[in-house]
This record gives sequence, structure tokens and C-alpha cells, in this order.
Amino acid sequence: MNLFADRNSRIDTENAFKVGPHIVRTEQQKGPVIKLNLGEPDFSVPKHIKDEIKLQLDLDNTHYCDPKGLLSLRTAISRQINVTRGLKTNPEQVVVFPGGKPPIGLAQQVYCNPGDEVIYPSPGFPIYESFIRYVHAVPVPLHLEESKNFTFSAAELANKITAKTKLIYLNFPSNPTGGVASKTLLEETAKVILERCSPEVRIYSDEIYENIIFDGKLHHSISSVPEMEKRTIIAGGFSKTYAWTGGRIGYAVFPTIEEADVFKRLNINYFSCVPPYNQEAARVALESPLSTVAVKKMVQTFEARRNLIWQQINEIQGISCQRPCGAFYLFPNISGVCENFGLFEKHNRLPEREQSSPANIFQMFALYEHQVAVMDRNSFGQIGADGKHFLRLSIAADQTVLEEGVRRLKNAAEDSSGLDKFLKDRPDLIPD
Ligand SMILES: Cc1ncc(COP(=O)(O)O)c(C=O)c1O
Repeated sequence: MNLFADRNSRIDTENAFKVGPHIVRTEQQKGPVIKLNLGEPDFSVPKHIKDEIKLQLDLDNTHYCDPKGLLSLRTAISRQINVTRGLKTNPEQVVVFPGGKPPIGLAQQVYCNPGDEVIYPSPGFPIYESFIRYVHAVPVPLHLEESKNFTFSAAELANKITAKTKLIYLNFPSNPTGGVASKTLLEETAKVILERCSPEVRIYSDEIYENIIFDGKLHHSISSVPEMEKRTIIAGGFSKTYAWTGGRIGYAVFPTIEEADVFKRLNINYFSCVPPYNQEAARVALESPLSTVAVKKMVQTFEARRNLIWQQINEIQGISCQRPCGAFYLFPNISGVCENFGLFEKHNRLPEREQSSPANIFQMFALYEHQVAVMDRNSFGQIGADGKHFLRLSIAADQTVLEEGVRRLKNAAEDSSGLDKFLKDRPDLIPD
């Protein structure tokens, strides 16, 4: 008899949380690490939001509450979605979750039967792929192409759709690439979906980075395309826009109240409710004009850092990087570095090559030998990722820290003998 049920071998993880122990170990052995691996803004929660949390605690708003989310917050979310997307949702279609993450996997539990196919962007937020086999569904990655600024064409999506397609994830602005979809791409995508998918197929549009967008561009949602409101789940949250990752508040707006109520039932089963004092503060975040000022300041800072770091990273020999239009990540191509190091052949000779990749080796080398933490391509979807050699750098750090991080990456990219030594020692494989 096995201790664990079989399904445990079918769920993956988010490496951004797994790299932590490697960073701790490096810091213990060698000193401070420059952390460009983090997916959270390096800003404080705006003061007016913090004040509201404190006020709500003083009001003893600390008890169980509506498992679907407080009506006051759901009303504010619905209103904001209607204004920004030109829709007519009502608060009963909204469900509040502990973060933007839970509805991703719950959606697969709610909509997919065994054998149903789930299309998702790759590279993409790892949780899309991670859950699919857990629910016995079939992963169908939609590869985002560097040459298309990390978007896809409607024809490529059309090729992935079959009679078994049940759920399609979209994520713009994108984690990890910073790619943003044009209105035209979303209209073409919607046309393919309306032509080829039955009305029961759901589009899960993860728009959690909707407010972090550069170059004066606007955020577009596929839900705004005529007929798509009936098929689209609009997912969002407060972690990124308000630098509030620890507040654990996210939401999804469903095409029907019936669907929202199924998710409410799962909330009851899994966690009862989201802390009401945070929910009232989230309502204030949506309603207060002070939020607009705070968010604008944060986005302008990200944009200035993007300009600077994008230029510096492109100056490193063997690295080329597309200019991201949103979120707070750069996604450089390091094929040239791997080539200069002969890393493709060296990786091929490793006994654990199946569990790693050339970019993963470079990620660990940069961490252990040059004290700079980044993420590798395969942390953002593994299926069909062979031959794709990228890193993700977060620009959620102070400018001087970012510049030091790039300097260390440059040193790593030029340190061929250091890499050979690293491959001999493999400190990343030594158990604690
Ligand atoms: C695309 C995307 N969706 C959802 C989430 C989850 O956000 P939260 O921290 O609110 O659960 C993240 C976090 O990194 C993300 O990048």
C-alpha cells in the first residue's frame, strides 16, 4: 500500500517558491544574493489601504463572512469591471478568493472531466499547467513566440482547438514575458473561439497585471469583444496592483451566477471565506482616488526600470531581450550564452539532464557562483519547452540593486571556467 494517493504525483509546483532554500544556502555560504526572482512589487501597500485594514480590525470585523465575498467588495469589483470593459456584470457573478491563484486550479476542477483538453500559454504562470493532470485533463500548451513579442496568432490557437477543448487560459499582460495583447489579436482570437468552440467552453482570462502596462498602452480584455462576455471568466486580484501579495485577495467574474455559486460551494469546502477586514480594504483600494495616484507612481517606476535594465541586459554578449510592455519582468533569451559555454553538449552529458535544462544550469550557476537569483524558462511550463533557453528577471527591486544584478549576470555570462567548476561541484544538488 502506498502512503500517498496517485494524484500527488500529477501536481507540479511554482519554482519561485522552491528556489528560496537555494538562496538561503548561498547567502549562508557566500553572502548576500541579489534577488531578481521575485514576483511581487517592492512597494508598500498604499497608506490609505493599510489604514482601512487597521480600522476594520478595530471595528472587530474579524469573523466568518460570506463565502462568496462581501457584497460591498463584489459590488465594487463588478462596477469596476463594467466601467473598464464595457460590460453588464452584476455582483452575484463575482466570487472573492484568497489570492488570484486559487481560482486557476478550481476552474479545472469545476469545468473539466477526465480527458478534456486545457489550452494554456507557455511560457506562462506555472499553475495553469501544474493542475491539469491532477484533474485527469490533458495539457495543450500554446507556445508564445519571441518573434511575436510573446503573443500567438489566432491561427496557432485554432490549431490547438479540438472537440475536447474545455478551458482556454489567456494571460495578458503576461507573466513571465511582459507580453501584451493588442485589441486586434483579441478580436481574432475571439472569432476563432466563437467559430470553433461550443458555448460550454470557458476562456479563463487572467488579467491580474491589467494595471501594470507601459508606453501609454491600454489594457484590453477579450471579455469586451461582442459575445465573449458569455464565455469569459475575468480573473484579477490585489496582489500586484496594490503591492499586496500577503493580503491574499483575488477574484473571478463568471459568465453566469450559476457558475459563481459552484465556486462559492468550493470556497465553503476549502476555506470558508477570505478575511473580511482585508476585503473591506480591497473595496477601498478600488474606490479611492488615492489608489490611482499610488498605482500610477509604481507603474512609472517600473517603466523607468524596464527602460534601463532592458538596455543593459541587451548589452551582455549572448543575451537578447524583447522589450516587455507590461507586468514587471524581463524575459531574455540566453541561447548565445549557452552556445558560448558549449552548455548544450555539457548539459546533454549530465546524468540528471531530464530533470534540468541548459537555462536551469545557468540559473543555478548564476546563483551559487555569482549570487544573483533569477528564474529559468522551465519554471513557466515544461511541456514542449525543450530547445527554449530563457531566464525571467523581475524588475521589482531598487534601481541600484537591479544594476548590480545585471552586472553579476554579465560576469556569469563571461565566466566559462567558473561554469566548468560549477558543473564538477554541483552545489545545487548537495542535500541539506
Ligand atoms: C499570471 C498570474 N496569475 C495569478 C497569480 C497569483 O496571484 P496571487 O498572489 O494573488 O495569488 C500570479 C502571481 O504571480 C500571476 O503571475
